[in-house]
Amino acid sequence: MTQYVAAIDQGTTSTRCMIFDHSGRVVSVDQKEHEQIFPRAGWVEHDADEIWANTRQVAAGALAKADLSAGDVVAVGITNQRETALVWDRTTGRPVHNAIVWQDTRTDRICQELGDLGGGQERYRARTGLPLATYFSGPKVRWILDNVEGAREKAEAGDLLFGNMDTWVLWNMTGGVNGGVHVTDPTNASRTLLMDLDTLSWDEGIAADMGIPVSMLPEIRSSSEEYGRVRERGALAGVPIAGILGDQQAATFGQACLSPGEAKNTYGTGNFVLLNTGTEKVMSENGLLTTVCYKIGSQAQVYALEGSIAVTGSLVQWLRDNLGMITSAAEVEQHARTVEDNGGAYFVPAFSGLFAPYWRSDARGAIVGLTRFVNKGHLARAVLEATAFQTREVIDAMNADSGVALTSLKVDGGMVVNELLMQFQADILGVPVIRPVVNETTALGAAYAAGLAVGFWASEDDIRQNWAQDKQWDPAMDEETRAERYHLWKKAVTRTFDWVE
Ligand code: G3P
Repeated sequence: MTQYVAAIDQGTTSTRCMIFDHSGRVVSVDQKEHEQIFPRAGWVEHDADEIWANTRQVAAGALAKADLSAGDVVAVGITNQRETALVWDRTTGRPVHNAIVWQDTRTDRICQELGDLGGGQERYRARTGLPLATYFSGPKVRWILDNVEGAREKAEAGDLLFGNMDTWVLWNMTGGVNGGVHVTDPTNASRTLLMDLDTLSWDEGIAADMGIPVSMLPEIRSSSEEYGRVRERGALAGVPIAGILGDQQAATFGQACLSPGEAKNTYGTGNFVLLNTGTEKVMSENGLLTTVCYKIGSQAQVYALEGSIAVTGSLVQWLRDNLGMITSAAEVEQHARTVEDNGGAYFVPAFSGLFAPYWRSDARGAIVGLTRFVNKGHLARAVLEATAFQTREVIDAMNADSGVALTSLKVDGGMVVNELLMQFQADILGVPVIRPVVNETTALGAAYAAGLAVGFWASEDDIRQNWAQDKQWDPAMDEETRAERYHLWKKAVTRTFDWVE
């Protein structure tokens, strides 16, 4: 009997379930978008109940589409948007507030105050690998405990649980109020600003600084082991849940970046470049994050350097949803193809401030270089180019931190179907850009983690063998043009600084 592995991918804009076969090919997929809630400028929330309902629905949908049942699935892996923070009541199972999404900037003042305790933005860098920034979960939990009536008392009494979306999905799948497992993995925990990167345990000193009771934090287990079985009466009832990886680490795993020096770039809502640095953690001096890449069972954890870019694909969505300039994401390429270049326009989408390598919450978006010559096509180009320029900035930082220049870049995610963008990316980086056959690397990585734990795949060599190249773009831009365009981009970025006072 043919067997399969399922992956739940709880992302920023949608939740998906994908079923994979032993060769790592997609057998079926079901997907559902959820509402993006913007209560005010800079705030982004998700309804966690809606997300859980969608999770159940897509799990059933993916199985039905492939005409499979739970008995055909040997394991489930979970992957998720990282940093998005949720606090819920352990007895009622109800969230006390909407999930606060990773893009949300409301914790700016909390981060400032924590930095003022000493050490500024670098206060927790040595212990957590991260700068103090609104991006991470810890300060968001602090905000919820400070702002939801009665939450702090309940948390101190042990009645509330915290989790990123992996933990929320796992807790519900394993029974929720009826014995749900409250667990996370080191890749997710390493994004909270609360985990010690060496010991992979919660840092009680930091939790105390943030006023977060350690009792509400999930247990940190490995990324690949059996955490429990699906207990709710859904499509996957009884199947072991055996893998958890934050979505960017999952994509790194799914891209088979399993040796030090291998890197990938995922083009999703944002872009995230991760470089596997092996069992040694490399502390960044150039604005990158040090994070856990994965930990397979009892093996030593593998670390990564990460360049996180907040806004890339979501800029195209913004063009569609907020400006109505396009009706589908694919249209942006059509507009961009009507012109030769950006006509002098540069679009810096600092909607959530700027993440790597700047970490500036005072920045806000800007379009510069406008003249009457600039038209819709030029703006469409500027939108796409923003993704490539931001990627170049984090790759430069990575080369500086690691002391080795990257020789090619593996890519995946929604935007890699955009030929114009991929060519421009290769042009502006000056190295080849390579897309794999299975572009769904995030879900695939979570499936691999789960499948390894139950012996469906024997070792990481199986993952390497399953990886295959689909297409490569080689740089075609001359050095002088590349340097000039990048110089103008850098200049445009400086125009976004100091906007929020
Ligand atoms: O750190 C945020 C990241 O995990 C979100 O990824 O693909 O849902 O935009 P994505």
